[in-house]
Formats: sequence, structure tokens, C-alpha cells
Amino acid sequence: MNHTTNNSLKRRLITSALPYANGHIHVGHIAGAYLPADIYVRYLRSMGEKVVWVCGSDEHGAAITLRAKKEGVTPQEIVDKYHVEMQDAFRGLDISFDHYSRTSSERHHKVAQDFFLKLLKNDSFEIKTEDQYFDTEEDQFLADRYITGTCPKCGADNAYGDQCEKCGSTLSPTELINPRSTLSGSEPVLKPTTLWYLPMGRHEDWLKDYIEKGELDGEAHHNPKAWKSHVIGQCKSWIDGGLQSRAMTRDLKWGVPVPVEGAEGKVLYVWLDAPIGYITSTMEWAEKNGEDWRDWWQNSNTELLHFIGKDNIVFHCIIFPILLKEHGDYILPHQVPANEFMNLEGDKISTSRNWAVWVKEYCEEYPNGSDVMRYVLASIMPEQKDSEFTWTDFKERVNNELADVLGNFVNRVLVLTRKYYEGVVPETPASENLTDVDKKVLESLAYAPDKIADLISRHRYREAQLEAMNVARLGNKYLTEEEPWKLIKTAPARVETIMQIATQVVGNLGVVLEPFLPRTAEKIATAMGVPNACWTDASTSIIAGGTLLGELPILFTKIDDEFVEEQVAKLGNKSSNTNPNIMPQKDATTFENFTQMDIRVATVTECVPVKKADKLLQLTVDTGLDVRTVVSGIAEHFKPKEVIGRQVVLLANLEPRKIRGVESQGMVLMASRADGGLRFITPEEGVSPGDVIS
Ligand code: 2FM
Ligand code: ZN
Repeated sequence: MNHTTNNSLKRRLITSALPYANGHIHVGHIAGAYLPADIYVRYLRSMGEKVVWVCGSDEHGAAITLRAKKEGVTPQEIVDKYHVEMQDAFRGLDISFDHYSRTSSERHHKVAQDFFLKLLKNDSFEIKTEDQYFDTEEDQFLADRYITGTCPKCGADNAYGDQCEKCGSTLSPTELINPRSTLSGSEPVLKPTTLWYLPMGRHEDWLKDYIEKGELDGEAHHNPKAWKSHVIGQCKSWIDGGLQSRAMTRDLKWGVPVPVEGAEGKVLYVWLDAPIGYITSTMEWAEKNGEDWRDWWQNSNTELLHFIGKDNIVFHCIIFPILLKEHGDYILPHQVPANEFMNLEGDKISTSRNWAVWVKEYCEEYPNGSDVMRYVLASIMPEQKDSEFTWTDFKERVNNELADVLGNFVNRVLVLTRKYYEGVVPETPASENLTDVDKKVLESLAYAPDKIADLISRHRYREAQLEAMNVARLGNKYLTEEEPWKLIKTAPARVETIMQIATQVVGNLGVVLEPFLPRTAEKIATAMGVPNACWTDASTSIIAGGTLLGELPILFTKIDDEFVEEQVAKLGNKSSNTNPNIMPQKDATTFENFTQMDIRVATVTECVPVKKADKLLQLTVDTGLDVRTVVSGIAEHFKPKEVIGRQVVLLANLEPRKIRGVESQGMVLMASRADGGLRFITPEEGVSPGDVIS
């Protein structure tokens, strides 16, 4: 009953998107690229299939360097910190990678450089010298997230050098209107540099066939090779729009150096080096396990599957396949079961607003909370469209499904077996003693593992988990309707049959729940005396008559409203890891937006209360430009005489607004705290009315 590998030649190499090592892992990440892969891989392992699952930290790219700059530390310090923390989060939810690597390692640099050199040898690039934007203050070329400006397609004013997040268009920095450096805010200048471009247009024809193959398979619908329609849709619209050449190098200090003489100060584009990280990770795994990594990447008996979020589709379905094909030695992705996004309590998950459920924090607070979180995330996995996580839904699923159905059923079977038979499972009933109801239950039970397996193979994890839970529902209903407790005195033989069948249901749960709820399944399988049972052991006779059942720890504890309130209160609030008096940081704004504000010093010359408004004071201020009226909500904090004569900071070009009948021509800026505390910002001596703050 051990998980022995079966001998079929087919291998499956599974990858999950390498997360950027610049922040914490939240539940949206887990539901997108990690939990579905974990369910799939656990199932394959249980089937004894040859499978390897690799991942690692993505440690290059603007996300890392910008974060390092913000925190005033080196990029290496950032990635070292998050490389460790992200693994804690994954472990907390029992995400069971076979190997977790990182892209800043020397090994990976070498692997990525060799790959690049092979492409160079194969003439895969067009080398062009052209003008690119350069930040003279920072002494750096600007691409991707280092440069921002107005989107030429939709007019949004905070598009990046590679993409406009508003309209989704792919951009190049030179297309941006009013470009600005995100590093210094300065206006960049054009300067010539050499770049290695991947001419993707050369690949349109075969890519069309490749994607259509996924679509044709999709028509069969039941075919595990079928690509999801939203994945195919995105790929087709890219190809139909014409594939533009994309630069595969960047003029940056942080990254994998371009291994070419004369290319000092240049690194590989992060989206070239990151997917190669899957290869490096496999090499490291193979070395540790006495395997040849080439069997997993360069052998047509291997199926390569990439688990990702929808923002990564183009990189895995178009760019990486082109790179693999250009190299020549590699297989292409067989399936890319990308998920859509998960929202949280009615809003997008946002790191900057702390609108997220952080996995590490959750697991530290609830060390036994892994299975329930996995269960909820799998129930609402955004497989075909965006979905929504709410703590109320979390509570309801845990209480009504896990505790009331699964926990209750398993517990009842164990308690009754102990009560009636001192914990020893009754012998298998003779078939002539089975009622129609018994036969129906056994039939559904016999069919369940295949049904669940089929759904998992087709990456329909929500339905697969639902079917696994239906096994518990089946058992629960059976017990409730057969009521063995009413028959134990009058029909003990019948009760033996009922309990024997109910026991088989529990035994199967120990197997079919494992991919979804590994800890719960282990507790169940251990209590049922089949701790190592695997998928192929699932049957209507998995538990032999005469087996002495063990102890069952409590499986699920119910959740109350207070728990829900506590969790919701954490959202948008940074108090869990910082000083509670500090207000959370707002969403990012652009330098452009900032420069539109006219903030200047003013002196308060008069101050009176506003009639019938306890909170308002009416100030007359000298702005250097003019003398004007400003209404300010500070009456509960300051008396008029404490305000007169002060220098204040004024947002001068705020649109005039009537407040309680008085027109306010600006806003006095105050230092405020989360607890409601309010103070003036007093300029240093020598500052005059009209001085602009910038
Ligand atoms: O979007 C991201 O978080 C990227 N770091 C994913 C990289 S996947 C891969 F190609 F490595
Ligand atoms: Zn746009």
C-alpha cells in the first residue's frame, strides 16, 4: 500500500509560477498557482505516477530593485528575506513542492546564460542599437516598471514602460506620452544602447497551430489536454494582434549578466531568466535524486504543465514556448491551467493597501488551520472566472460542510464502532444480506475515486473537491436514514452491515480527501488502520473486517462570528505588524499626479468658528498670492486663538467648495494619526507665505 511509482514511461513535470521575492504570499497567490498544482501533484503521487513539481523564488526584475530602493537596502537583502519567508508560507499550507529553488543563485545564472548563448548561436535574436530612455539623475536606462507615463492607447496617466494596467495594452517605453522615471521622477532623455530582440513575429504560424491544438482538444471537453477557454482566448488575441519583437536584454545592474563580450552593464530580461528557473530547479532536484534532468525537459514522454495566474499567460503560452523552440532541445508546455484572480471582501487584493489575507500570518495564528483554508480556497478557486473570498463564507463552509458533514460523519462511525464492537470493524456482510440502499451506497462509493480522479485530471478542482465531499455526504445520509442506533437492540446483524459499509465510506475518505485536506485525510486514514493507503487502494473493501480502529483527534472546530469580525477588521489595517497609530499607506500615485498639486506655505491672519458647525473653523490665510478663506475641520482640536498667527501648509489649488455656506478655497494640511490625533505642520523659521512645497 505504499506510494510506489508505476512503471509507465510517462513523466509529468509540473511548475508553479516563481513568485517574485519582494513581498509576502497571500491567499490569492495560493488559489491561483499553488493549491491547484498541489492537489494535482498529490493525486498523481497517490496514483504512483512519475511526477516532479518544481518552483522557486523569482529574484530579478524591477519588482525587487524598486522594493530595495524603497526600503533602503540592497536587492540581495530583499530576496534573501523573502526567499525564506515565502517558503514558510508555502509550508504553512502544506504546499508540497519537490524542489524550491531561487534565481539569484550562481547555478541559475550559468543555466540562463548557457540558454541565451545557445539562442545566440541559433540566430534567434535581432541585435539592434537604438535610442532608449535614460535617467541622468540615477544613471540608469529605464524600461518596464522603471518608467511611467500616459498610455498612448487609452490615455491613462500611469502606464508603465511594458504595459498599461488600465487597458492591458503591451507598450514599449518610447510609446509613452510624458514619460517619467519612477526612480527619480525626472524627465528621461534618449540615449543609444544595444538590445537583443526576440523576433516573435517569425513564430506566428506554428504558434497558431500549437494554440489551436489546445482548442481542438478543448472541443472534446473531457480531454485532459484541453486548454481552458480563457487561456486560449488570451493567446489568440495576442497572436491575432501580431507578435512584436521583444527585447530580451535590459541595461540594468541587477539580474543575470548578458554573457557576451562588450555587454557589460546589461542583464537578461527577467521574463527570459525566470522560466529558465524551472529548468534550474529541475536540475537541482535531479541531482539530489539521482535522476537525469534531461529526461524531464528533453524527452517526448514528459508532459510539461505550468500552473500560473492569468497575468502570466502570454509568458508561458507564447514567449517561453518560442524560447524553448528556438533552443531546439526542449519539449513544449503540454497544458497551462492558468487561473483567474481572486478578490477579497468585495475588493481587489492589494498589497499596498494591506487588503489581503497573508498566509504566513494566518498560519502563525492558526497552526492547525491549513486544511480549512485549503478547503475554502479550493471551493472558490477562480478556475474559469474571477472569484471572491469572504470570511463569512469561510465560516459557513467550515461550520456547515467540514464540521457538520465531514467531521460529524467520521466521528459518528468511530464512536458507534467503539460503542457496539469495542472498536473492531464487523466482518464483510454476505451479498444476499445487502438491501437496495446498501447496494446503491456501495455503487456510488465504488465510482467516486474515478469520478474525482477524472475531474482532477481535467483541472476542475472545485468540482473534484465537491465530489470528494459528496462521499462524506453519502455516508452521512446513509447513517441518518438507516439509524443503526434504533436497531442495535432488535436487529444487531443489520447494524453490523450498516456499520461495515459506513466504515468503508470513511476509509475511502482517508484516500480521496488527501489531495485537498492532507492533514485531515491522514488523521482519518490512521484512525482507520490504513495510514499509507493510496488512490489505487480506494475500494468498497478498503477496511478489512476485524480491523481495530484507532483514536480520531477532533477534525474541525466551529468558527464564531467574533473570528469573522477579527479577520475582517485586519483588512486595510497595517496594525498587525506596525505601530497602531500609523495610518496605512495609500495606493500608489504617479509623479504626474503629485506635480499637479499646488502645496504652499500660508499664514493664518484671522480665525473664527463656523456657525452651527462644532467641528469647523473659518480661517483667513495669506498665501503670498492672495488672502483667502479656508474652512478646516479642526475646531475640536484647536481654539481660534491657538490658530491665528500660525504658518500652515496649504493645498492651494483644491477646487473651491462651499462648506456650511462658506466657500473654502483650499485645504490646510495637518499631521494626523490613526487614533484621531491632529497637529499642525509648522514650517522651519525663515519660510514665507507663498513658498511652494515640492
Ligand atoms: O508574476 C510573477 O509573480 C512572476 N514572478 C512569475 C514568474 S513565472 C516564471 F516564469 F518564472
Ligand atoms: Zn492604456
